[in-house]
Amino acid sequence: MEKLVLADTAGFCFGVKRAVDAVYDEIKKGDKVYTYGPIIHNDEVIKDLTDKGVHLIKTEEELKTLGEGTIIIRSHGVPEKIYDIIKSNNLNLVDATCPFVLKIHKTVKEQTEQGRHIIIVGSKSHPEVQGITGWCLNNYTVLETKEDAETFDLPVDTDICIVAQTTINYNNFQDIVEIISKKGYDIIVINTICNATKERQTEAKTLAKASDAMIVIGDRHSSNTQKLYEISKAECENTYYIQTLKDLDLNILKSFRSVGITAGASTPNNIIKEVHTACQK
Ligand code: F3S
Repeated sequence: MEKLVLADTAGFCFGVKRAVDAVYDEIKKGDKVYTYGPIIHNDEVIKDLTDKGVHLIKTEEELKTLGEGTIIIRSHGVPEKIYDIIKSNNLNLVDATCPFVLKIHKTVKEQTEQGRHIIIVGSKSHPEVQGITGWCLNNYTVLETKEDAETFDLPVDTDICIVAQTTINYNNFQDIVEIISKKGYDIIVINTICNATKERQTEAKTLAKASDAMIVIGDRHSSNTQKLYEISKAECENTYYIQTLKDLDLNILKSFRSVGITAGASTPNNIIKEVHTACQK
């Protein structure tokens, strides 16, 4: 191999780093620590946290039964009612919701209070979207696809505010905004897509184009890593999706002149480093 390039934007984004650091900081304090949902989509990190005594709270019902300890809200954020439960149970709260997501919560709350119907462009099952819906005073629609947008049908005098899940593709967002714009509503569009995702995707595309092989590192459940894989694969046929170094066949790489490496937003730095170092040998 003549050239090996590690993407500058590979790995944790600012919001995820902040959330993971918050958990490790709380562990040091010795209190009982809970996270509401897995702090990130990465099995390795979750296992390490479980080994260190962090408990994972999966449901609202489970949350209601907690009487003491510190609960950490992950970067995806949660519906407003979750804050109420935490407060009424006198739990110590560490809110690691990404500030960019908090901004969406604030916006949709203000806009629904002013009577606007919220359209969230994103995936209905994604926890960030579920969190956002919990700030919309039950006046929202989630649109995932262009087909959803085509069939969206509220009275034409409805005022609408469109926001996006932070990690969705900009073109999908634009397509849906265009379809809704043609329907004659009074619309406010707030592009809430996070730059971290865009920058990582753009860099992956450029790097994949310039490389003979591309390695994408991330948990198989991580949707942003899956997207990085798709983008890279479209530019570079020899794209490999790995979770850790164990999944990588280093012999195959020897036949390529240039190799690029990128990683999803929830991939820990030590895993990226391990892969990078092994490829350099
Ligand atoms: Fe926040 Fe953007 Fe990461 S919204 S959690 S910095 S992808």
